[in-house]
Amino acid sequence: MQVLKADGIVQVFEGREVLSGLDLTLGQGEILGLLGANGAGKSTLLKILTGMQRPVGGRVCFLGRPLSEDYPGNLARMGVFINEPVFYESLSARENLEIDLTYLALADREHRDAGPTGISQLLDKVGLAADSTTPVGRYSMGMRQRLALARCMGHHPDLYLLDEPLNGLDPVAIGQLRDSLRSLAAQGSAILFSSHILSEVLRTADHVMVVADGRVSLRASVPELLNQGQEVAERTLVKAMEG
Ligand SMILES: Nc1ncnc2c1ncn2[C@@H]1O[C@H](COP(=O)(O)OP(=O)(O)OP(=O)(O)O)[C@@H](O)[C@H]1O
Ligand SMILES: [Mg+2]
Repeated sequence: MQVLKADGIVQVFEGREVLSGLDLTLGQGEILGLLGANGAGKSTLLKILTGMQRPVGGRVCFLGRPLSEDYPGNLARMGVFINEPVFYESLSARENLEIDLTYLALADREHRDAGPTGISQLLDKVGLAADSTTPVGRYSMGMRQRLALARCMGHHPDLYLLDEPLNGLDPVAIGQLRDSLRSLAAQGSAILFSSHILSEVLRTADHVMVVADGRVSLRASVPELLNQGQEVAERTLVKAMEG
């Protein structure tokens, strides 16, 4: 089933066209890696796909309906990770997750550790179990990234939109995230993530899409790219990023 479909997305900032008619589709269980040079428009595209930013042209359908039809409802079915996440700094990771999941009206505060949606499992999944009661203000950058990832997974979304989720993560956390994304996709979620770490994108994604000069300069399946070997695959991606 098609989870996300964007057609002809155009975005203009201060008279400059940043996205010039971009299309994408993402199906259930698919992981799509979004690549592009700094300033290529990846974050802009991800914000448009969440519905938080309106494009000047084009349309986005989520689960078969235009995104604009049910904006708050759509957000509850998406797991969104935007860089530099904001938390309640004096509260612990556990308390932050309790508040977020309560907002989404999807967690029962009295039974929060019951069942597979439990906050403890979430914290464990991202390697924060031992630090779950520490105020988030004392967290390192990587710990904040881990907590932000836990936050976007707690409500079992159909679609994950992740802007550079690997930033600041150590190699162990990168491996854990790769495993998590693969298992979420295996359970049917659709995942779109951006990254500059080519090797990791090739290890995690099924397909890649490169944005350059406001357009898609390359779409490819990862197994096909890797047919030519890792080095050639990475060179192909860099070439596509140069437009
Ligand atoms: N709100 C805004 N107002 C004006 N220009 C913007 C705005 N948001 C983004 N831009 C510009 O649009 C272009 C694309 O930015 P965007 O953040 O989407 O790039 P990116 O691909 O995510 O880059 P990076 O790899 O550095 O994160 C850049 O030239 C940026 O300066
Ligand atoms: Mg960006």
